[in-house]
Amino acid sequence: MTDLSALDLDAYWMPLTPNRAFKRSPRLVVGAKDMYYTTADGKQVLDGLATLWCVNAGHCRPKIVAAIGRQAGVLDYASSYSLGHPLAFEAAHRLVALAPEGIGHAFFTNSGSEAVETALKIALAYHRLRGEATRTRFIGRERAFHGANFGGISVGGVAAYRKAFAAGLLPGVDHLRHTQDLAARAFVRGEAATGADLADELENRIISLHDASNIAAVIVEPVAGAGGVLVPPRGYLKRLREICDRHGILLIFDEVITGFGRLGKPFASHFFGVTPDLITFAKGITSGTVPMGGVLASKAIYRTFMDASAAGVELFHGYTYSGHPLAAAAALATLDTYAEERLFDRPNELAKQFEDAVHSFRGLPHVIDCRNLQLIGAIELAPRPGAPGARALEVHTKAWDRGVFVRPIGDTIAFCPPLIAEAKHLDQMFGVVADIVREVA
Ligand SMILES: Cc1ncc(COP(=O)(O)O)c(C=O)c1O
Repeated sequence: MTDLSALDLDAYWMPLTPNRAFKRSPRLVVGAKDMYYTTADGKQVLDGLATLWCVNAGHCRPKIVAAIGRQAGVLDYASSYSLGHPLAFEAAHRLVALAPEGIGHAFFTNSGSEAVETALKIALAYHRLRGEATRTRFIGRERAFHGANFGGISVGGVAAYRKAFAAGLLPGVDHLRHTQDLAARAFVRGEAATGADLADELENRIISLHDASNIAAVIVEPVAGAGGVLVPPRGYLKRLREICDRHGILLIFDEVITGFGRLGKPFASHFFGVTPDLITFAKGITSGTVPMGGVLASKAIYRTFMDASAAGVELFHGYTYSGHPLAAAAALATLDTYAEERLFDRPNELAKQFEDAVHSFRGLPHVIDCRNLQLIGAIELAPRPGAPGARALEVHTKAWDRGVFVRPIGDTIAFCPPLIAEAKHLDQMFGVVADIVREVA
């Protein structure tokens, strides 16, 4: 037990949190190890969502902890503006080696949101350098989540993140339809056999409306995460790639969730066999330990900046903490941990158990869909009349009380455990949630 009576809960304006409800009934963790959190009242809670889809290596892993501590005492901070330190270069090198063929360079940010802003800016500047400055439109997708900054919410497709900020959204953004169709494709295991033609609206509707010469880039999450875990139909991403290629449009994969082994490969790009021009990453790069994100860029894009821009800074963009030494040290130790423990193989090894467990919810009260791909999955509940989200929130709250953390997204419950999960952890996670789903009215 940790004494929290002296804690001032009021001063902290918590992000993405119902502050008033939280402060009436605070939920605090004081420690974490491997698959479990320790709460302030001494309970162990299984982390069924890699916290925020990020703790892929598990919590407080020794090699990562040691690397951060060591680095803090050697070189605590160095700017990356016309100054360098070896670890940032090493981390970029390791990332490029991990990335799909054709990707050659890493730009560092501090978060997924900044990675998305960076990718959008690179796309605009790239077209301009090539003499195609009319290519300014971005194409996102409904139900996408690309972070909380203005570019990200503009190409994102979740109303809650957009509605209060409508006046500040980027102009010139269109959205593809999301890929969910419960009437045609509920309870699909993995990728659906139908629905790839949803990609065709990029050509049939959007390009034919605006003309490709005005479109800079299409951005999608290979598997939509925070919009409710939507697995793309088989062949959908390939079709997007083909259409972008036909029309000179850049394709950006936001791999902030799908990167670093979630699908049993380093990136979803490998899993789907589709290489975009830009990949955004964050979260799993340091297993959540130190903030870090970034953009992986194709060799062709980087070459354009190096060849076509005037002498001096090629891209007027960056952050004080881009390539921060502690983040770079954490990234390297995390990549070592993934490799030494073969953690990117874990989703392949657990896929069958995970899929069967997700689909075992079919037939339980109010369950209207189950979906999964490798080590990411979700069940969707019918909303309570007049109270959307309430049912899943109740499941989430009860699960926490019974020692399992999973995330509600509307009336969807998402599962995304650390890659170190074992069969017994999946049994615990799905068993507790299934018991609660049976009880919740
Ligand atoms: C696909 C995707 N992109 C971007 C972000 C934003 O990342 P961050 O919260 O690190 O800014 C998230 C966060 O969940 C995400 O899931």
